[in-house]
Amino acid sequence: MGNDLEYLKGCMRPEQYEKLAALNNSKLNEFIADSVQLCTPDDVYLCDGSKNEYDTIMAGMVNEGLATDLKARENCFHFRSDPSDVARVEGRTYIACENESDAGPTNNWIYPDKLKGTMRDLYSGCMKGRTLYVIPFSMGPIGSPISKIGFEITDSGYVVCNMHIMTRVGDKVLEALGQGDFVPCLHSVGKPLAEGESDNGMWPCAPVEKKYISHFTEEQKIWSFGSGYGGNALLGKKCLALRIASVMAKKEGWMAEHMLILRLTNPEGKKFHIAAAFPSACGKTNLAMLQSTVEGWKVECVGDDIAWMKMDDNGQLRAINPESGFFGVAPGTNSKTNPMAVKSCEKNSIFTNCVVTDDSDVWWEDGDGECKHGIDWKGREWTPESGEKGAHPNARFTAPAAQCPNVCPDWEDPAGVPIDIFIFGGRRSELVPLVTEAMDWDHGVYMGATAASEKTAAALDSGVAIRRDPFAMLPFCAYHMADYWQHWFDMGDKLGENAPKIFYVNWFQKNEKGKFIWPGFGENSRVLKWMCERVDGKAGAYDTAIGKMPKKEDLDLNGIDLTDEEMDKILSVDTEGWKKELPIVREFFETMGDKLPDRMVAQVDRLEQRLKS
Ligand code: GDP
Ligand code: PGA
Ligand code: MN
Repeated sequence: MGNDLEYLKGCMRPEQYEKLAALNNSKLNEFIADSVQLCTPDDVYLCDGSKNEYDTIMAGMVNEGLATDLKARENCFHFRSDPSDVARVEGRTYIACENESDAGPTNNWIYPDKLKGTMRDLYSGCMKGRTLYVIPFSMGPIGSPISKIGFEITDSGYVVCNMHIMTRVGDKVLEALGQGDFVPCLHSVGKPLAEGESDNGMWPCAPVEKKYISHFTEEQKIWSFGSGYGGNALLGKKCLALRIASVMAKKEGWMAEHMLILRLTNPEGKKFHIAAAFPSACGKTNLAMLQSTVEGWKVECVGDDIAWMKMDDNGQLRAINPESGFFGVAPGTNSKTNPMAVKSCEKNSIFTNCVVTDDSDVWWEDGDGECKHGIDWKGREWTPESGEKGAHPNARFTAPAAQCPNVCPDWEDPAGVPIDIFIFGGRRSELVPLVTEAMDWDHGVYMGATAASEKTAAALDSGVAIRRDPFAMLPFCAYHMADYWQHWFDMGDKLGENAPKIFYVNWFQKNEKGKFIWPGFGENSRVLKWMCERVDGKAGAYDTAIGKMPKKEDLDLNGIDLTDEEMDKILSVDTEGWKKELPIVREFFETMGDKLPDRMVAQVDRLEQRLKS
């Protein structure tokens, strides 16, 4: 232990070493010393979280040609990734635990020692020519009982700057840590530099077969190698706040979910809090920042991607957003679809894989304004006539949550907000109606477990056209999926009367011409309003085989420009189509083996009965 400090003294700036010596957290010292010895960086740097630190590291990347300083936006920068490193890689994402059955059928399992062996070889000398940054970060407001501390070691300045925005970083985290525990997260872009070599303005990463996004769920640590992309490299986000946290939550009786959190206030001033789970690139960020089109109803954003929820002393489920920024999909974001996101990234933001325009701004497909000429995400000259998209479909903005004009005043409340409503959903161009209310908690859990969505650009290698994505957690639940479903049943039992009402939505039904029928975005507030009125017992619904649904007259459709036929299409139940889903669902359930809860089987049996009668 003392040896670790001694070793670090030899390779760190004295004032940074002093911080570690004063803290005297032996697990931390060991983590840093081991990583330095293994990765052999040229320099070691402990992040303090200051603006000066951010500015210095960013300026370095601009100098090297890795980042473009966007003159048209205050303190904003653009990065072009390697064309192979643009999204999460689910095929290279691993769960390592002693028994394969604990990882379950939905994860790539490897035996921990074997994976460590492979990865140690990759890490060996991998930071040559680079700086090893140590990033102390907190997921959740510092000091909140729901928050967790992590340390990310990385050789990427891009990661450091993004972590500054997405999490709480620096000295204040060291103070909160003291002698306490934390989640060690080791990251390398996996591209050591030879003597005198530089990145030459090229995004460093490793080829796909050397990429590993690994989670040791029993030791609770994360090793990521070879990718610089958000979900693979900003380890506080999907890796810690979802995968590792899902395991912690199961063990400790709380919930770590892939959910946005919003507050909806009705004209009488009554507040409702909604948490909604949609798969990546299916509308979380947009719904979280929604501008209500219903007179008198106001939306405020608490979080756009992840919710950590615990039952409080009154038996109420309360949620915090563990992040402090948005890592949002840029294409499709404009002043009409998501004005709050546009405002959130006006300044102090990072952009990845967009078009850089001639006036040194960023542009993307279905963004604001037009771009006549610029440099595309691959670094080539681009005009609308180029015949290819200028921005990658998974191009992203990283923006501080505090800059969102409708951020909820309580978004950093350590106690969280009380959840009234859960929503599940996905992208389905057919079959699934605009909105359905679960008949009870168990039916709602069934809805979550059978959620499915069409493929998006957010995961490189998700395969099939429509895939089951239970609770939007398929890529993020780091233990047996059936145990996770049981956890949902258990939470319902624990919450009893206080359990949130559950709904399922689909904004994405298309007509014969392939156009979305429902206008979506701000107009989704009409559906949210109906949900709140259902909670209050004020709005009507009728029973269908698949759940309770509104009639047209139960929804506030004032000013919605849809024909009766179109409304009927998205508010009706295609019984034959739903019958065809049953064998697919049963087959999916069978992959869970004997851990599948009986309560889940009972739900599909009942649905079958209802569809028959
Ligand atoms: P997230 O990854 O779940 O946060 O998804 P985003 O909110 O970033 O949205 C992903 C994509 O879906 C973007 O291109 C959005 O413009 C689009 N989108 C979001 N909400 C809606 C909606 O209500 N209707 C339609 N048609 N598209 C939407
Ligand atoms: P999201 O995920 O698409 O759910 O925002 C971000 C990511 O892919 O890392
Ligand atoms: Mn998002």
